[in-house]
Amino acid sequence: MEILRSITELRNRLARETGIAFVPTMGNLHDGHLQLVKIAREHASCVVVSIFVNPLQFGVNEDLASYPRTPEQDCAKLETAGADVVFMPTVEEMYPAPQQIMVEPPPIADQLCGAMRPGHFRGVATVVLKLFNLVRPTVAVFGKKDFQQLFILRAMAQQLNLPITIIGGETVRESDGLAMSSRNAYLNPAERLEAPRLHRALLQVVQAAQSGQHDFAAIETQTEQYLTQLGWIVDYIAIRSANTLLPPESHERELIALGAARLGKTRLIDNIEFAL
Ligand code: PAF
Repeated sequence: MEILRSITELRNRLARETGIAFVPTMGNLHDGHLQLVKIAREHASCVVVSIFVNPLQFGVNEDLASYPRTPEQDCAKLETAGADVVFMPTVEEMYPAPQQIMVEPPPIADQLCGAMRPGHFRGVATVVLKLFNLVRPTVAVFGKKDFQQLFILRAMAQQLNLPITIIGGETVRESDGLAMSSRNAYLNPAERLEAPRLHRALLQVVQAAQSGQHDFAAIETQTEQYLTQLGWIVDYIAIRSANTLLPPESHERELIALGAARLGKTRLIDNIEFAL
């Protein structure tokens, strides 16, 4: 496995490759990321993983400075997982000048997580397009835990005619149901015990919708109130169309329950796709 830090090295190394599968990450890798690498392995002879904590996608009061950075452990895990190339650029390498040209994501980027994190998906789409231009993959793999991100990046690839197949990897969970996330490291022991409740609450949302409760707004509000009473600060609980991420039309059957809520200083997100 080669660890490359400069764009020139990366371009030289990848020039001879014919098929590349790419897993963009911000590092602090867990089994969820390694699952994405495994999927990538099935799709191309060369697997590239990037590790880059992208300042463009963090708001001013967010955790850019404290975001966990563990490059050595990450590279050891990637070596075992069978990655061929790790690209670990500095901020200066990725943004030698202020980034003034940005990818404007679709309007859905202002809803759900985007409503609480203005500009977040613009920053994600911009860095991912830059990384795509550097790595030139045929396939890119993203986790379904960040379902809205996956949705927006699929739309970007489609609407900008990128010759890249975007694949969604299933969410990997701890044994108590908590979705794996680098931000789980922020949870104190009491919060860690409480954290799987978000997943359980979403399972109840799915059960209520599937048992014929048609008033989705009422299900969302009840679930938000339930979590709030238990000390969570809820950003949203939402039932949406899995195909548009908009509130579902009455005929839609492929749905998704999504939630984002904070426990102390840790913001957790999760979702469950389901059918009616
Ligand atoms: O999901 C992430 O880790 C990041 O948003 C991504 C896609 C690597 C872009 O910085």
